[in-house]
Amino acid sequence: MTSYKELGLVNTREMFAKAVAGGYAIPAFNFNTLEQMQAIIQAAVETKSPVIMQVSKGARNYANGTILRYMAQGAVEYAKELGCEKPQIVLHLDHGDTFELCKDCIDNGFSSVMIDGSSLPYEENIALTKKVVEYAHKFDVTVEAELGVLAGVEDEVASEVSHYTKPEEVVDFSTRSGCDSLAISIGTSHGAYKFTPEQCTRDPKTGKLVPPPLAFDILHEIEKKLPGFPIVLHGSSSVPQEEVDTINAHGGKLPDAVGIPEEQLREASKSAVCKINIDSDSRLAMTAAIRKHFDEKPGDFDPRQYLKPARENMKKMYIHKIVEVLGSNDKL
Ligand code: G3H
Ligand code: 13P
Ligand code: ZN
Repeated sequence: MTSYKELGLVNTREMFAKAVAGGYAIPAFNFNTLEQMQAIIQAAVETKSPVIMQVSKGARNYANGTILRYMAQGAVEYAKELGCEKPQIVLHLDHGDTFELCKDCIDNGFSSVMIDGSSLPYEENIALTKKVVEYAHKFDVTVEAELGVLAGVEDEVASEVSHYTKPEEVVDFSTRSGCDSLAISIGTSHGAYKFTPEQCTRDPKTGKLVPPPLAFDILHEIEKKLPGFPIVLHGSSSVPQEEVDTINAHGGKLPDAVGIPEEQLREASKSAVCKINIDSDSRLAMTAAIRKHFDEKPGDFDPRQYLKPARENMKKMYIHKIVEVLGSNDKL
């Protein structure tokens, strides 16, 4: 058993309480590689922001769970080396799908886990979440649960249609499951294609796709039913047009990729939404920089030559999210 406390990590409890009270959201950035981890920590330290580094089941399969855990431990030491005296870094399991996976993470240094029972029938979601909560709380590990289903397809997360969270269920669900935070479905979805062109309108001036707005009415109803309770938004990449354009201009093919407009995420951050999940924007920032580099310097083959600009581009994106969208800067 390795406690996250030995690694210098923190759980989400105090961080979320401060974020809800302060009207900002904590960034939850997914990572699979060294460059993502370095960029996340550099951005968090430079902006004095708490940060959640999250690992999906797919990331564990890709990079190896043990390596990722030591990387998170390294992240704490790296943040200190960069001048942050008391880094507030959470290592979180994203979309855990079984009790066993959550337990394995809790036993191996994670300070927070998500048990995603959102595809299960309601009572089964409560029972599974409760089982994880009972184990996690013995070790002061916090637990995120999910109610409602997000659309979108990625390696480990797939659903064709979304079902908004029903506000009338949230009190019963959070009380009986004992979860510490709740991911809800209000129209966000995973990946770089969050909406089909048919679901969007076109801006007559730019010709760009404009997605349908998030269901803020549902969010506000949930806030009223669970005052001060930490709410989480998944699928919150904004799919920056300039990154998509760079990718497409340098041999990529991402037609009609569309994300969540940042003004809506800015608005959500001021509410009880205190954790915002971003993965696709990091993938886009990395891919755009690498494609551009290879196009302009076809003779390069040292990974450092193209991963350095990729890391810089991700760092720029993380800083932008922290300062301009979530407002979690200057909170350490
Ligand atoms: O919500 C899912 C995350 O973006 C992780 O995606 O399962 O492809 O690692 P992944
Ligand atoms: P995006 O695909 O919008 O980045 O969402 C990531 C996410 O929700 C991770 O759990
Ligand atoms: Zn997610």
